[in-house]
Amino acid sequence: MFIDTHAHLTYPEFDLDLNGVIARAKEARLEAIVNIALDEEARRKARSIAAEYPGYIFTAVGIHPHEASTWTKQTEADLRLFMKENKVVGLGEMGLDYHYKLSPLEKQQEVFRRQLQMAQELDLPAIIHSREAAEDTITIIREENKGGLKGVLHCFAGDPQLEQAALEAGLYISYTANITYPKAEIIRESAVRVPLERTLIETDCPFLAPQVFRGQRNEPSYVVKVAEKIAEVKGLPLADVAIATTKNARRLFGLLS
Ligand code: NI
Repeated sequence: MFIDTHAHLTYPEFDLDLNGVIARAKEARLEAIVNIALDEEARRKARSIAAEYPGYIFTAVGIHPHEASTWTKQTEADLRLFMKENKVVGLGEMGLDYHYKLSPLEKQQEVFRRQLQMAQELDLPAIIHSREAAEDTITIIREENKGGLKGVLHCFAGDPQLEQAALEAGLYISYTANITYPKAEIIRESAVRVPLERTLIETDCPFLAPQVFRGQRNEPSYVVKVAEKIAEVKGLPLADVAIATTKNARRLFGLLS
């Protein structure tokens, strides 16, 4: 009924009770989870998690803009080897983060471009992170899209220009539970505009718990709160949002039902 298209189950927050977390996800009628692994240790962990929950937890790998400064030829070789030896359903998260600026901006741009190229070469969806960097994100997507780009703008913050450019490029827009926060009017307005057939839902857990659990650890079962809010602002039954976003996720990430 629901798919959490962006979770970080390799974080230590889930070390002690992953079984319980997954049991609650199933109880909440989640059909699948895309687990995003961002470094070598996380990739190792993601591999064993995927083996433990076959057909339920899928893996995506990439280098986050925060870590762009660590990118070398070896990083790319490591990613390629992992993708050769393991089933991977997406590349990312990749992109630009001008809020924290943990890596130099030029390096972030270079690594974002490189991963967009790889995604097209490998025919994988690009999972794109963009924070306070809408203009450069638009430019880079336009320049690097050779016609075969597919992917998602994850944890979308509501910038109308970026939303428009992403839709024009054929990308999906994914919302997290920050859409439930009182001050997030701009995100809710975006969810109203973006057609259901281009909408995805995610948790980005352990971060960004929905308003009712704010400050606590987030987990995949709470993705239902994101779907509920989208249904509310669009004036649609929850089932419509559930069915459409699940279909979109299955199509984008190639998850067979
Ligand atoms: Ni994330």
